Amino acid sequence: MFLTDEEKGMRDGAEGGAVAAAMDLLIRYGEALGAERLCETRNVAGTMTQPSPAKAKLVEEGGWAKSFAVINLDCDDDIEIPRMKVPTCQLQHGFGKDASGLTSYPEQSIVLQGDAESYFSERGVNILATCTPYQVGNIPVRGEHCAWMESSAVVYCNSVLGARTNCEGGASTGAAGLTGRIPYWGNHLPENRFGTHHLVAGVPVDDFQEWGMLGYFVGDAVQEGRPVITGELVNPDLADLKHFGAATATAGGVEIYHIPGVTPEATSLEAAFGGAAVPEPLVYGEAERRLVYETLNDQGESTDVDFILLGCPHASLDQLERVARRLEGRRIHSDTELWVMTPAAIRTMADRSGYTRAIERAGGRVLTDSCPAMSKAAPDGTRVMATDSAKQVHYLPAILGIEGWFGTLEECVDAAITGTWRGELSR
Ligand code: F3S
Repeated sequence: MFLTDEEKGMRDGAEGGAVAAAMDLLIRYGEALGAERLCETRNVAGTMTQPSPAKAKLVEEGGWAKSFAVINLDCDDDIEIPRMKVPTCQLQHGFGKDASGLTSYPEQSIVLQGDAESYFSERGVNILATCTPYQVGNIPVRGEHCAWMESSAVVYCNSVLGARTNCEGGASTGAAGLTGRIPYWGNHLPENRFGTHHLVAGVPVDDFQEWGMLGYFVGDAVQEGRPVITGELVNPDLADLKHFGAATATAGGVEIYHIPGVTPEATSLEAAFGGAAVPEPLVYGEAERRLVYETLNDQGESTDVDFILLGCPHASLDQLERVARRLEGRRIHSDTELWVMTPAAIRTMADRSGYTRAIERAGGRVLTDSCPAMSKAAPDGTRVMATDSAKQVHYLPAILGIEGWFGTLEECVDAAITGTWRGELSR
């Protein structure tokens, strides 16, 4: 692999043992991928603070430096961890203090995570603690090379922001934070960003639920492809595209998509395919829509719901406002829990805007940092959940062995009030 003089210096220890280990890891990783060089990044979104039994054991043996060296740098040496060289943030991790006592999620994991936050924030890791860093200030510019983890964030970064990242891991993001480098391959290369499949929506896609269902269909249809979507697409907003991308990366492995006239690299259908012939379209019609809805609801049997989960990917302020408005003057059923997951920064804004108070007055909770699927924990005794997220209903029933329903935000809030699922496909 070609290395600049600065990169050779980092590899040879000019900036210390941790940077040398990081550079060594990136070279091995890049060579395995066939990358010819590294590229500079000033935007890393990874995970250093997520607790796990393996991490707890390493911390006990040699502190956070040992844990970071082994897990994030693939290095057994006794090394000091310096400050991150470039802006680096922590994505979602485990449940935080606000979830303490609400589930069987281990208290020691919450404590361990708190310690990790102190250690890594002193080393320049910004604790955003969300799967949606782009909602709380980390918004790379078009064309910027990034090193991000988290499938729903990666697809948003590439598609909606037009920045460039592969779906990185804990090791490569740790190494990228210390060096400001990441292998130049995959989505970093302009020629790898053009569409491979053409999909046409033959039914109106006009709200959060419809965008999630279309995303689930698209992901299943193209798997790791790069879909270009046209048709009856009605003015998507941030929440719609957040849900759409997360669903494409759930049913498939989509890391970039284009919507001509909406996403920045698709000024036209032709441009989205880089001037190559536009493939025959695959149509998403009424039958396909119904099938997606049935698939997303095939884990539901009992209509007695006891857990409602909103905010996957983490909720925006607008979404919290909608939940608060729907709950006005109402009270959540005594056998039901309602949780809305959101970034801590948005929770602060929701507190000041009165939305948290309104949700809590009705008996719901606004929680941060994680989600039930990520932390593998829901309220104790949960048997049947409902959610407005295609991603959460895909994963959580399988993870926890519970039933799951998928519907609109309004249907979910109403189920929280009545304890009964009455969702159905509109139109
Ligand atoms: Fe975020 Fe959890 Fe969904 S991490 S994308 S809320 S599965």
